[in-house]
Amino acid sequence: MAAKNWTQETFTLNTGAKMPAVGLGTWQSKPNEVREAVKAALLAGYRHIDTALAYGNEHEVGQGIKDSGVPREQIWVTTKLDNPWHKRVEEGITSSLKDLDMAYVDLYLIHWPSSTDPADLKKHYPDWDFIKTWQEMQKLPGSGRVKNIGVSNFGIKNMEKLLNDPSCKTVPAVNQIELHPNNPSPKLVEYCQGKNIHCTAYSCLGSTNSPLAKDPVLGEIASNKGKSPAQVLLMWGLQRGTSVIPKSVTASRIEANFQLDGWSLTDDEMKQLSSRPDRFKVCGDDWLPVKVFFGDDE
Ligand SMILES: NC(=O)c1ccc[n+]([C@@H]2O[C@H](COP(=O)([O-])OP(=O)(O)OC[C@H]3O[C@@H](n4cnc5c(N)ncnc54)[C@H](OP(=O)(O)O)[C@@H]3O)[C@@H](O)[C@H]2O)c1
Repeated sequence: MAAKNWTQETFTLNTGAKMPAVGLGTWQSKPNEVREAVKAALLAGYRHIDTALAYGNEHEVGQGIKDSGVPREQIWVTTKLDNPWHKRVEEGITSSLKDLDMAYVDLYLIHWPSSTDPADLKKHYPDWDFIKTWQEMQKLPGSGRVKNIGVSNFGIKNMEKLLNDPSCKTVPAVNQIELHPNNPSPKLVEYCQGKNIHCTAYSCLGSTNSPLAKDPVLGEIASNKGKSPAQVLLMWGLQRGTSVIPKSVTASRIEANFQLDGWSLTDDEMKQLSSRPDRFKVCGDDWLPVKVFFGDDE
């Protein structure tokens, strides 16, 4: 692939909206760290921030955006509906906007296809599932408080269930899923791309204490190119047509993770990275009251 200036690139969603290809992740970024991290990212040139009600840091994310001085309309902000809030979509977005101190978000996602009972987090509602949640989500863009809606952690099975339901009038703009060389999910990515649903790669560096950091093939490709393993992982995600949202609270890493302009991986390097023999997911579904992953890509 010809080298691009990825920090300036956007992916056009099925709504026509243009989402910046590289964003800052904020899961596990503590409230006292995330404000500075968001500010540092925006000053380094990032224009896309990913958060969630479940991360407990929306207020500080909003503060960091304000501290940066970058006008709100130049920034793409994604947040997510938490599992125990599926029956309260309207309340969920109201809570997020209040904490972020914003009039709107650019993208609102169903965080997981699990309508968890808030009275007992080990239970799934017997009378509610993500189909009903999506019916409520579909009302939001009309309010102006949410520009685009999408889902997260949907495999092919749940995506088919959603898209084939007669109540589904809006095709999700995005499916945010775990994607890195040890979980490349080619069938799911291809399935979504075929339905004009953009995939965002989360845990794109392999998450906290990433085992990918020790991968010899990744290390060799990185050293041959004079890039860091993290930069190579991000380029791999971008060249697959997925947006990437690396998380860091370290200013030097935030800057380094944005050095993605004017270089590229060869087809052979892409192939080597996509064919790692071992497979693992960082984010499983053991902690949820329902199974949401059904084997490879499903
Ligand atoms: N939708 C979902 O269910 C879901 C699930 C998981 C994640 N996400 C989103 O995706 C984002 C990214 O995923 P993630 O947080 O799991 O993990 P990640 O971005 O793959 O990795 C983050 C880890 O890598 C470290 N790191 C960052 N840049 C580095 C570099 N250049 N060199 C070495 N280490 C580096 C970070 O450390 P420091 O921070 O200490 O620098 C942190 O420990 C999340 O923050 C969140 O916004 C969404």
